[in-house]
Amino acid sequence: MEAEDMSELIEPTESMEAIEPIPETSPAEQLVADVLPIGAAPARAEEVRGSVPLWFHTFALAPGIYTPGIARDHGYRLPVVGADRFAGRRVLDIGTFDGFYSFLAEARGARRVVAVDNEQYVDWVRDRFGVTLPGGAGFRAVSDLLDSQVDYHRMDALDVRELGERFDVVLCFGILHRVTDPIALLQTLADVLTPGGEVVLETYGSHLPGETAAIEVHQPGEVYPRDTFLYWGFPAEGLRRLGRIVGLGDVSVIDQTEIDGHPRIVASMRAAH
Ligand SMILES: C[S@@+](CC[C@H](N)C(=O)[O-])C[C@H]1O[C@@H](n2cnc3c(N)ncnc32)[C@H](O)[C@@H]1O
Repeated sequence: MEAEDMSELIEPTESMEAIEPIPETSPAEQLVADVLPIGAAPARAEEVRGSVPLWFHTFALAPGIYTPGIARDHGYRLPVVGADRFAGRRVLDIGTFDGFYSFLAEARGARRVVAVDNEQYVDWVRDRFGVTLPGGAGFRAVSDLLDSQVDYHRMDALDVRELGERFDVVLCFGILHRVTDPIALLQTLADVLTPGGEVVLETYGSHLPGETAAIEVHQPGEVYPRDTFLYWGFPAEGLRRLGRIVGLGDVSVIDQTEIDGHPRIVASMRAAH
C-alpha cells in the first residue's frame, strides 16, 4: 500500500491529547538495527518506512534510513540471538510483531523460521498512540524488502501445536507477561520443541528479590498508560519454577536488567534430550 493510502488509516482517538507521542529513534535502537542491515535502495527504503503507520522494531532499511520503532534499546538481547543459536536450526518466533528477530534468525542461518502473532498489538497501539495499524503491515513490508522465506501466521501462540511442526529454538520475546495463562503458553511451547530444544525467553521482570518464588500482578495501565494487556512481572525464581512445571527443568537465567525504567529478564528453558 502506498504511503498516501496508509495515512488515511491514522485516526485520532477521542482522547487525542492523552495519547503518547511516538518516541524518537535513538542511537541505542539503531545499534541493534544495524545487526540486520537490509540494504534497500534509499528511495525504496523511504517509501517503505512511510508506508507503515507505526513501527515496533527499528530496522536499518538502508544506510542512515531507520524505521522509527517504539521498542526501546534491545541491545541486552543481542547476546542470545547470535548465529550460534540459529545456524541450521528450525526457529519459531512467537509474538513476532514486525518480525525483527525472525528476519535476524533467517539472516543468521536458520534452516526454517515460522513467525506467529495474534496481532493483539492492533488494540494497544490504537489505545496508546491513537494509530490504526493494519495487522502485519510492518512484517510484510520488511519481508518483501528482504525477499524473506519466513513463514508468517496470524495465530494465537496457544495454538502453535496446530502447525504440526517441532522447533529447535522457540523465541518467546516480550509476550509471556501479556498472556493471561503463562503456564499454558510455556506448556504449549514445550510441546513443540525437539528433544534438547530450547525456549529463549525475554519478558517483563520484577523488582522483587530474584529468589522470590512469585509472579507480580500488574493493574491495567500500571506499566504503560492505557496498555491493559500487561499482566505479570517475573522474578528469576518464579520463571525457574514455571519452567519446571512445564517439564523444562533446565532453566538458566541469562540476564536481568532495566531498560527505560522497566525491569526485563532473559532466560533459556531447555527440554531434555
Ligand atoms: C511487546 S510485543 C513484542 C514483539 C517482539 N516479540 C519483541 O519482543 O521484540 C508483543 C507481541 O506479542 C503479540 N502477542 C500477544 N499475545 C499473543 C498471543 N497470545 N499469541 C500471539 N501473539 C501474541 C502481540 O500482538 C505483539 O506483537
